[in-house]
Amino acid sequence: MSSSVFTKTSAVPKASAKAALPAAMFCRNFGIKSTLHAQKLMAKLARQDKLQMQTPQQDTLLDDMPRELKLPMTPLPIRADTMEQLWTTKNLESLDIGIKKHRAPENIADKIAYYAVKSARKPTDIFFRNKYLHRSVMLEVVAAVPGMVGALIRHVKSLQGMRHDGGWIGHLLHEAENERMHLMTWMEVGKPVLWERALIATVQTGFFAVFSLLYMVSPRTAHRVVGYLEEEAVTSYTHFIKEIDAGRIENVKAPDIAIAYWNLDENATLRDVVLAVRADEALHRDTNHHFSDRIRAGRESLFEDLEYSEDQPRIKH
Ligand SMILES: [Fe+2]
Ligand SMILES: [Fe+2]
Repeated sequence: MSSSVFTKTSAVPKASAKAALPAAMFCRNFGIKSTLHAQKLMAKLARQDKLQMQTPQQDTLLDDMPRELKLPMTPLPIRADTMEQLWTTKNLESLDIGIKKHRAPENIADKIAYYAVKSARKPTDIFFRNKYLHRSVMLEVVAAVPGMVGALIRHVKSLQGMRHDGGWIGHLLHEAENERMHLMTWMEVGKPVLWERALIATVQTGFFAVFSLLYMVSPRTAHRVVGYLEEEAVTSYTHFIKEIDAGRIENVKAPDIAIAYWNLDENATLRDVVLAVRADEALHRDTNHHFSDRIRAGRESLFEDLEYSEDQPRIKH
């Protein structure tokens, strides 16, 4: 071995000192004169090796998949009645969802929540006008945030406090999934153009940050905000139905994803989908106002009211 190899090793930075000896041996074995060059080469080879180890062979992916991942995790509709029967236009129209139901603000926090939502509606009206499909995409991108944020924060609180959550987390996650299914449905029907997508994504990012902060400071107000947001959603979808009935929006066939998710008739149309989505929003409205009321009443845990019920699970969580 030439002495020049070891002379150059002394110039190696401290961080690379650990690699000096194997690099020197590597040089000797492969007749490389520069240790630094050898270290770089060794690092490159190591990276390639690591990459090969981390990249599974595609043809074995299915064989290696755990059995549990092969079980279907099908999104379930949020309304119990939607799961119980096939939904036709007639029974969708006969659902009593309280189209004009409104929770009057009772205190300052409620008023702030109410007027915040009302003031956010105005720019949306100006921007989207009668483009109800694109407006719905915007609405659902935002509406899918609160359930997930609420579930995350309550999950962390449950862990940190080492106590039961009170049975909310599952419901909040289900709400978030339901809103995302609304979004996936609307994306099947009509796709916003690039600049609309950019605006929607920007609004959602801002909303995510503000809502997360609000939920940490005042979950009661946060749920009230969602309650009012859902009241607006019910109104928006009612206008959507009127536009379809007036012939200004074509009543196309419902996408397959919607027929499967809401258990709709195979000949269902866009109008049926809007009726089903509006029914979901009405449930979100009632649920979130109820959550806010429970916090205010100091009776958060659902199990305080449900533990003696025959048909409710007894496992507190
Ligand atoms: Fe929705
Ligand atoms: Fe909703």
